Amino acid sequence: MFEQNESMDWKAQWIGDSRWFLNNWLCEVKPSPMIRKEFSLPSNVKSVKLRICGLGYYELTINGAKVGDHVLDPIVTQYHQRVRYVTYDDIPQLRSGINVIGVVLGNGWYNCHTADVWHFDKAIWRDYPKLLLQLDVTLVDGTQMTVGSDKTWKVSDGPLLFDGLRNGETYDARKEIPGWDMPEFDDEKWLEVKIVSSPGGELQEQTSPPCRVMQTLTPVSMNIIRPGTVVYDLGQNIAGWVQLHVSGDAGTEITMRYAERLEDNGEIDQKKIDSFINSGDCQTDRYMLKGDESESWEPRFTYHGFRYVQVEGLPNEPTLDNIRGRVVYTSFDQIGIFECSNPELNKLQKATQWAYIGNFVGIPTDCPHREKNGWTGDALLAAETGLMNYDAASSYMQWLESISDAQRASGQLPGIVPSCGWGYNWGSGPAWDSAFVLIPWYIYLYTGDLTAITNYYDGIKRYVDFCTSMATENLVSFGLGDWCPVDDEHMPPAEFTSSAYYYVDAKMLSTFAKLTGRDADAIKYADLSDQIALALNSNYYHGDGLYANGEMTALGCALYQGFVEESERDAVVCKLVEAVEANECMPDFGILGAKYVPRALADNGRVDIAFRLISQPEFPGWIHWIKQGATTLWEDWSGESSRNHIMFGDVSAWMYQYLAGILPNSENPGFKHVLLEPHIVEGLDWVKSSYRSPKGVIKSEWLRKGDSIEFVFELPVGVNGSLVLPNGTKHSLTEGQHKFSC
Ligand code: BGC
Repeated sequence: MFEQNESMDWKAQWIGDSRWFLNNWLCEVKPSPMIRKEFSLPSNVKSVKLRICGLGYYELTINGAKVGDHVLDPIVTQYHQRVRYVTYDDIPQLRSGINVIGVVLGNGWYNCHTADVWHFDKAIWRDYPKLLLQLDVTLVDGTQMTVGSDKTWKVSDGPLLFDGLRNGETYDARKEIPGWDMPEFDDEKWLEVKIVSSPGGELQEQTSPPCRVMQTLTPVSMNIIRPGTVVYDLGQNIAGWVQLHVSGDAGTEITMRYAERLEDNGEIDQKKIDSFINSGDCQTDRYMLKGDESESWEPRFTYHGFRYVQVEGLPNEPTLDNIRGRVVYTSFDQIGIFECSNPELNKLQKATQWAYIGNFVGIPTDCPHREKNGWTGDALLAAETGLMNYDAASSYMQWLESISDAQRASGQLPGIVPSCGWGYNWGSGPAWDSAFVLIPWYIYLYTGDLTAITNYYDGIKRYVDFCTSMATENLVSFGLGDWCPVDDEHMPPAEFTSSAYYYVDAKMLSTFAKLTGRDADAIKYADLSDQIALALNSNYYHGDGLYANGEMTALGCALYQGFVEESERDAVVCKLVEAVEANECMPDFGILGAKYVPRALADNGRVDIAFRLISQPEFPGWIHWIKQGATTLWEDWSGESSRNHIMFGDVSAWMYQYLAGILPNSENPGFKHVLLEPHIVEGLDWVKSSYRSPKGVIKSEWLRKGDSIEFVFELPVGVNGSLVLPNGTKHSLTEGQHKFSC
């Protein structure tokens, strides 16, 4: 996958803080190093290109001003296999004469020193922070100049005393070194850096959007719970951090502890999110004032999941202006909008978007606080919602590289990617691992880009073959089943849902083989999928529409994953409708059923029941969360655990695809020919949706007017479409606007 000469023109060397790399087993957490280099530029500069890889994270300044607006850069990888550098070629800070490069390094994932249950502290690639930086300058006359990290660069401790991705930061502003990254600073007392080994992985340019501060929120309220302790409410659960604005005496210590829920007494409650962090604080930042007239500070090398922040030690009467909420995520564009006449559904749509972005800080994650882990199953279930709402394909492409890196020679995959080595034998399994198969498919479906399918074909095949090695009579039973269900007793066996993914993966592989011209494989894996379907049907289908014990997930799975015999389809749909109606249209499933059941119903003519399931307000249900004030999706129906998980989040894509009816088209991927099939449901008066496809913006709107419905559709220039109206009439559409009434 790497261009062979990708790293050939690097002249710079990896450097680090000379005191740290002394075979001392990484046992101490050291203050963040500040590294500086002074150099001179002539006046006839034509162009510049600066490449930087600062691990775990870096902040780069030139002549005292930050370069770019990236945060938490570079995006985590398995560093012994792949390391990403970031390129800047527009650096207004550079000038003729003396310039200074300043870099502060943070631990990030690279030096994850916090003891946790996934053992990131024992990652094979773990090491102290290190830096590779090269500035290439082309002069007007064509002469080349290079400034690269080497042993002449200088290093010092600074004010950032502690940073832990999972713990937070401690910053002592009294230790700031004014002018350290400016010319004419005397660095004689600074230490020389040490040349250190590279992290080991191939160097590769980071091409997906970086993380950025995407929004700044003003708290909606504050509650002084005792003198000196105030709890701020941002009104929204987010991933990011707080920017602090204070003034007071030097040395005054301010503590900020972040959480997404409150105790009855108004204090923040971290109990549900600190459980897997076994050393140090849980999402806590500390700031020691330097005593200036006004000071502002925000962390740089950690992030938190929170709505509330408890601030202790403010020297003056607290005000709402003491803090701002900084919303951080991968800076992809929003490309989808869905609105309808039901305010609760609109809130659910928003909450899903917030949960999605809060769980895409460089990589897709499960939650932004407790874990920040790239759980593959969570990403898989949220991927269509992601691709309908955000221009996220290139970010998934980069994450897939890490999945591929993490794959064992046997084809086995871990449940968390990037992987530190943990997670191959728990938490993985087909329902999670299929991210490696289906996300390439979704990228193709939504953007028309076949690259991921082509690049990972061999790995996907190895994965399917691995499943075959785990199968007995064409069924596999490894992996988790329908996770976080309403009732454990109402879950189909993991063998059923895992084998269903094994079936889909084999079928997908056959499709991929066809798409990439591998005829023999196309036949082989189509045969395999037929055999798996046969095994599923003979072991789990009892006739009369009944799969397994008639659980909603089992019925939804059979229909959605597509192994129901055509002659039995109507009976299975009937059973599913019966099961949902018997439960008063309330969910009785976990994260797998949450994707299968609404889609299976809608694909089989029962959008009405699916809509009731999604929109009913009682426990358990999506709107029940909203009624309780959820601003993001929760990890479980009861709200017992994390309150920012995305794995129940396919509902957002469902609304675009079944209510507005903007459907992806496997025959014409990337919306080259648009399929529109809106549905009218009881309880909704209008729907308005737009989606920026690679071909341009697609719009679908409908509005009840008296006894009829008015529709407006819009297709991009040069794009045709096929429309099915709710009355069954079919229409061919061309570019531009189209109105119908029925
Ligand atoms: C995570 C989930 C994940 C699961 C796997 C949890 O701890 O938060 O979202 O998919 O483990 O079992």
